[in-house]
Amino acid sequence: MRRREFLAGSLAAGAGLLSAGRLAAAEPPLANAPVPGDAKMPFQQPPLPFAMTALAPYLSEEQLTYHYGKHHAAYFKNLNALVEGKPEANQSLRDVVVASSGPVFNNAAQAWNHSFYWDCMKPGAGGEPAGDFESFRKAMSEAAVKLFGSGWAWLAADSQGKLEIMPLSNADTPLKHGREPVLTIDVWEHAYYVDYRNERAKFVEGFWGVANWPFAAKCYAAAKR
Ligand SMILES: [Fe+2]
Repeated sequence: MRRREFLAGSLAAGAGLLSAGRLAAAEPPLANAPVPGDAKMPFQQPPLPFAMTALAPYLSEEQLTYHYGKHHAAYFKNLNALVEGKPEANQSLRDVVVASSGPVFNNAAQAWNHSFYWDCMKPGAGGEPAGDFESFRKAMSEAAVKLFGSGWAWLAADSQGKLEIMPLSNADTPLKHGREPVLTIDVWEHAYYVDYRNERAKFVEGFWGVANWPFAAKCYAAAKR
């Protein structure tokens, strides 16, 4: 894979990262074990891929307990109630996200987005990869910090492997725009209010200390298939 085939400008750093051989090692697939006690529901919240305490001091156990255990869980609960007895109950969560609108979309997308987001972080990850990482980090951070209201800062790829930083509001996701998510930062205030109160910029800065580049590399490789 040649870097210049798919990247330009500030995204070159991200591309360098994602094409780096040392990041090519296979990561385990997304965990999909159902949450105990919820087995009858069509959509199951996957377990966190790390312990609630594992991202401290970046994110405290209390912050993750609220974010994963209250906010993320509520989207699954709401979605399951909305699709009960409807065709969507037999579709994959991703297919529901792509095809739905209104409340079903809002809850399905937030369920999917968060499951993806947890995998974008890993205890002991982050670091300063080779290449022009600094300009990519600045651009992605700026997109996250400046996004008005609630939403997500995404790094996404098209089927040709062209990367793009996409700040999207509310539940919106690159899946709705024909792009494959590669990395995301949740900038809903519920993602950081316990640890950072109103200081989104500090929360975004800390993300780079736990960014899961092997996962991003795996998503990027899948996007081009
Ligand atoms: Fe969130």
